[in-house]
Amino acid sequence: MTLPGAPERPRLPPAYRLVALDSVTSTNEEAARLAAEGAEDGTLVWARRQTAGRGRQGRDWESPAGNLYLSLVLRPDCAVNRAAQLGFAAALAVGDAVGSVGPAMLEITYKWPNDVLLNDRKVAGILLESRTAGAEVLDWLVLGVGVNVASHPKEARYPATDLKFEGASPAIDEVDLLESFSRHFMSWTNSWLDDGFAPLRRAWLSHAHALGEEIEARLPRETLRGTFRDIDEHGALILELQDGTRRVITAGDIYDL
Ligand code: BTN
Repeated sequence: MTLPGAPERPRLPPAYRLVALDSVTSTNEEAARLAAEGAEDGTLVWARRQTAGRGRQGRDWESPAGNLYLSLVLRPDCAVNRAAQLGFAAALAVGDAVGSVGPAMLEITYKWPNDVLLNDRKVAGILLESRTAGAEVLDWLVLGVGVNVASHPKEARYPATDLKFEGASPAIDEVDLLESFSRHFMSWTNSWLDDGFAPLRRAWLSHAHALGEEIEARLPRETLRGTFRDIDEHGALILELQDGTRRVITAGDIYDL
């Protein structure tokens, strides 16, 4: 309930057009449907809960009320291979939002490609889905963000956590996260539009999880072990194998060894 005289919530930057839902199968599915119907850049679908939340690699995303579920329709004027960089902008914006509402002394790190970790456990995930118009041209991109605010899955491929569990104030809710994320995402996308991927890459690398460490990279058709050396100018992971050769990895999951 909004008290008389209280500001309407959520308050988003004017560039975003909010579609607020109580329940939906998946905000990504809904945003993709709206995008296919011509929804404009900046359409932001937000739901209190999802009944069929989607994760990366065809996995499910548990979506009870109390956490944040949003998907943005974006129509950046860029080649398809640059669009993935917006996943890094989203991860950085989640990191900023979590940092601004979370308790002091939290360790926020970024796990390739787009996970956000809090004290080494996954607090947020990002799912990009796109449609192309011709070989190299992007028609639309749906950027889905899920942040564990009040609960986290107990059984997960990668250990998970949530903001409350890590000590955030009980007064913090998903609307605070939504408002903060959207402000920070706007600022990271402006930086990306003005100066390209370099500032995002720098910020992401300065808090990258497992950089310089031994990792296992599970790719669609093989599993590799090596040292996580870098991300390149597109956001691909550079893995140094034991024989010293380097592999450029564009899709997959990484795990600590
Ligand atoms: C991951 O596997 O880490 C990505 C999870 C992405 C979840 C978010 S929740 C909002 C949006 N709608 C979905 O169905 N998925 C994304």
